[in-house]
Amino acid sequence: MLELKNLEAGYDFLQVLWGVSLQVERGEFVALVGPNGAGKSTTLRSISGLLKPKGGEILFNGQEIGKLPTHIISRMGISYVSEDLNLFTDMSVRENLILGAYAVKDKETQLQTLDYIFELFPRLAERHNQLAGTMSGGERKMLAIARGMMSKPQLMLVDEPSLGLQPNLVYDVFTALLKLRQQGVTILLVEQNVNTTLEITDRAYILEQGRIVMEGPSREVKENDHVRNAYLGI
Ligand SMILES: Nc1ncnc2c1ncn2[C@@H]1O[C@H](COP(=O)(O)OP(=O)(O)OP(=O)(O)O)[C@@H](O)[C@H]1O
Ligand SMILES: [Mg+2]
Repeated sequence: MLELKNLEAGYDFLQVLWGVSLQVERGEFVALVGPNGAGKSTTLRSISGLLKPKGGEILFNGQEIGKLPTHIISRMGISYVSEDLNLFTDMSVRENLILGAYAVKDKETQLQTLDYIFELFPRLAERHNQLAGTMSGGERKMLAIARGMMSKPQLMLVDEPSLGLQPNLVYDVFTALLKLRQQGVTILLVEQNVNTTLEITDRAYILEQGRIVMEGPSREVKENDHVRNAYLGI
C-alpha cells in the first residue's frame, strides 16, 4: 500500500533522512522506532505531504504522491495523527469528530462513521458534548486518533500516541490502536514505548540518524542484541 524508496528529506540546509526505504502492506501494523531526532516525525510529515521530499519516491497504492498537496493526500486515504494533535479546543468532542470527516461529503456516511467510532471509543461517546480542551491528556489522544479515522482512511500514520501518558492511559491508547487494526485499518506507528510497540505490531523498522538500520518481524527485532541494549535497556 505504501512504499518509500530512498526518501531524502529535511529542513532548509539540514538533511534529516538519507535514503529511507520502507513498505507497509494493506492491513499491516508497522512500527517505526528510533532515538530522538532520528527523523521519525520527518518521515511521517513527508508521507502526509506537510514536508516536500528532496529526493526519492513515496508511492501510495502504486501512485507517486511525493509532490501532491496535503489535502489531496488526505483525500486519497492517508490520515496523519501528529504529536501535537491539532484539536479544536473550544469545540466539543462531537464537533471535532465531524470536522475530521470533511472529506466525506455524504451526511449519512458521516453519522454512520460517528456511531462506529463511538462504539470503538465509549469514553468519547459519554463525553461527546465536552469541550476538547477540557479533556484529559489520554482522552485527547483518543479523540485525535478517532478524528483521524472519521475520514475513513486506508492508512493511518500515528506519531507517539503514548507520549506523556500515565501507564493505564498508554494501555488504553494501544488497545484502541489494536482495535483499529482488527477493523482492517493499516497503521504506521511511531513510538518511544519500544517494548509494547514491538509486542503489538507485525513488523518494525529501526531508524537511526536518518537511516533504516534494521527491519523485520517485530518479534525478531525485539530479540536483537542492539535493540535490547539501545531500546529495551536489557
Ligand atoms: N521544522 C524544523 N526545522 C528545522 N529542523 C527541524 C524541524 N523539525 C525537525 N527538525 C530537526 O530534524 C531532525 C529530526 O527531527 P524529527 O522530528 O523527525 O525527529 P524524531 O525522530 O521524530 O524525534 P523525537 O523522537 O524527538 O520526536 C532533528 O534534528 C530536528 O531538530
Ligand atoms: Mg517525533
